[in-house]
Amino acid sequence: MTSSVRVLGRNLPELCVIMTPNFWILVVALLINITGFYCCLYSEEDPDIPVIAKYFTTKGRYEEVNPHLRDDILFVNRSALKPPSPQCREAHLTAVIRHGTRYPTIKNIQKMRRLYGLVESRASGEESWLREIQSQWTMWYTDDMDGRLAMKGVSDHKHLAVRLSKLFPSLLTEEKLRAGQVNFMTSSKHRCVNSTLSFMAGLTEQWAIRDVEFEHTLNDALMRFFDKCTRFVEEIDKNATALAEMQLFKEGPEMRRVQEKIADRLRVPYQSITEEMAEAAFDLCAYEFAIKAVNSPWCCLFDEVDALVMEYSNDLKQFWKRSYGHDINSKASCILFHDVFSRLDKAANEIKSGQQVTEAVTIQIGHAETLLPLLTLLGFFRDSEALKSTNFAQQAQRSFRTSYMMPYAANLLLVLYDCGNGDLRLQALLNEKPVAFPGLTDLTSSMPRYEDVRSHYRELLRGCDFETECQLFNKPVDS
Ligand SMILES: *[C@@H]1O[C@H](CO)[C@@H](O)[C@H](O)[C@H]1NC(C)=O
Ligand SMILES: *[C@@H]1O[C@H](CO)[C@@H](O)[C@H](O)[C@H]1NC(C)=O
Ligand SMILES: *[C@@H]1O[C@H](CO)[C@@H](O)[C@H](O)[C@H]1NC(C)=O
Repeated sequence: MTSSVRVLGRNLPELCVIMTPNFWILVVALLINITGFYCCLYSEEDPDIPVIAKYFTTKGRYEEVNPHLRDDILFVNRSALKPPSPQCREAHLTAVIRHGTRYPTIKNIQKMRRLYGLVESRASGEESWLREIQSQWTMWYTDDMDGRLAMKGVSDHKHLAVRLSKLFPSLLTEEKLRAGQVNFMTSSKHRCVNSTLSFMAGLTEQWAIRDVEFEHTLNDALMRFFDKCTRFVEEIDKNATALAEMQLFKEGPEMRRVQEKIADRLRVPYQSITEEMAEAAFDLCAYEFAIKAVNSPWCCLFDEVDALVMEYSNDLKQFWKRSYGHDINSKASCILFHDVFSRLDKAANEIKSGQQVTEAVTIQIGHAETLLPLLTLLGFFRDSEALKSTNFAQQAQRSFRTSYMMPYAANLLLVLYDCGNGDLRLQALLNEKPVAFPGLTDLTSSMPRYEDVRSHYRELLRGCDFETECQLFNKPVDS
């Protein structure tokens, strides 16, 4: 559909058929062309959604991962939880959540500005999307936006809070919030603090609470462990070689083809569209959509094949920098892993000894860089083959897709259930959908016994010591 419309758009000036049976089709095509949408128009479901929106990796919208939310942002499906027996009660929830939709960082904004300058001054052609960029679109991103939470990010978290209170109506309640049984912890980064405040506002507005302010604690040791893990910083973060596979892919044939196609569409010399420019164009399409919900003309620089290449390039980065590519990437999250399990243990022990669970809900807000290593440590989305610069085609069906795992406001929910007589269950949900713990498939229920989960992760529970993992063993000798 997309490509046939594009062909029609290009050929339009040469068609002089008037008052034929095709006349109205032409009029419609012309209108589409004039309104400046044509090649971005047809996502099967919704013309306001770019066809490539499902490939935006960590810059993707949460609604693309949970499409039913497009119709009703507060929709929850409690029957998807399926506890093993009706007497199971939710006893504790720990939620590790990424901040909401944010503005681009300064570095990204500067790249976008350079691309816009190029397109404005050098590109030529009659396509309506190109004219729209050149005559209507303005570079409205300013340096001071630098990674801040956008208004959409505020609603991401407000809505998530309301949905979680509907999903766990006996846990995330006004009574428990007022009783101090709901705790909030966040990374100190402004977009995370503001996400936390937005999450709280979602609850207090829903319950019309005006007489109390709720506390949150800043905890970078837990929510920004990647900054504190020396071995990760030295061996990965500061070490370009650690991301060699990504770099090779960026210099490889698939990426070069994407750049050439962009250059063709803009009618500019091939060498002016660097890999960085291609990235800026992809980012512009993604940010315009995530922040303003518009299907912008920038999206017309990519077809679906190009988007898959851009997605893979980003996934390579996440894989080698935050996930299975290097062992230390996930080991850096040992500190958070133990924090989560010690809280679950505490709640489990309270239940076993007949006490009330003191902490009903813990909300921990951080970054993609917080959540992805933790998911990796737990074994989620592990493919048999590593993502490499040379296996783009073989990886077409991979499960490691950050577009699916890590949109804005991505979340891992761990819910402890008390099913009576010492039968405790633990359910994991990723982005509000139940998921099985990898390697722990209890076919009778998606909700394994808590002790089975503990025994499944016993090696990590015994070891996985942050201090030990993160110390630099082979300190280079000063010369
Ligand atoms: C809710 O979840 C159940 C179980 O997964 C599923 O069968 C059902 O179709 C869902 N309902 C809606 C409205 O999404
Ligand atoms: C966060 O919220 C505060 C107070 O509402 C506001 O002043 C600030 O600009 C916000 N920061 C970001 C990064 O959005
Ligand atoms: C950088 O990464 C490469 C590849 O993982 C590794 O062999 C090398 O030891 C690292 N360098 C440092 C200084 O850690």
